[in-house]
Amino acid sequence: MTKKKKHSILFVCLGNICRSPSAEAIMKKIVGEAGCGDLFFIDSAGIHGYHEGELPDSRMRMHGARRGYKLDSRSRPVKTDDFYDFDMIIGMDDGNISDLRRKAPDVESLEKIHRMTDFARNKLYDHVPDPYYGGASGFELVLDLLEDSCTGLFETISSTQDN
Ligand code: 4NP
Repeated sequence: MTKKKKHSILFVCLGNICRSPSAEAIMKKIVGEAGCGDLFFIDSAGIHGYHEGELPDSRMRMHGARRGYKLDSRSRPVKTDDFYDFDMIIGMDDGNISDLRRKAPDVESLEKIHRMTDFARNKLYDHVPDPYYGGASGFELVLDLLEDSCTGLFETISSTQDN
């Protein structure tokens, strides 16, 4: 990061090819449409680096494209500097949260870790399920949950900080 934005958010999932790149694209669209893209630095990363350098999964890109999202980030693993560079680090499920807590370098970093669905307005799910080994409905569910949770996240940030 070269320039410190007012709000920096890192979305994290296991592989950084399905859920977190979708969250990144959705959140960027939300803040852009609200006219405050300049205030945000938004990125995504994976717990693992198995898919490092790859575009998001082709199924995820296709389902995202149908809703107008361009998923063009490249997969990368979470690194220690992320805990210093970002204000919020948002995991998708229990596994992501416990892995992030294990990787956090200090107490301040632990306090930056959040769960995506904690920002959801529709409380039907307490995590964003991994769609990788499932069918089309799993990818649609990911987008439904992320659209709702990212909208809630944006409302939370807008209402709790003086913009
Ligand atoms: P993501 O999905 O964590 O939402 O990116 C996955 C991607 C890849 C794998 C698992 C989940 N994998 O086992 O390779």
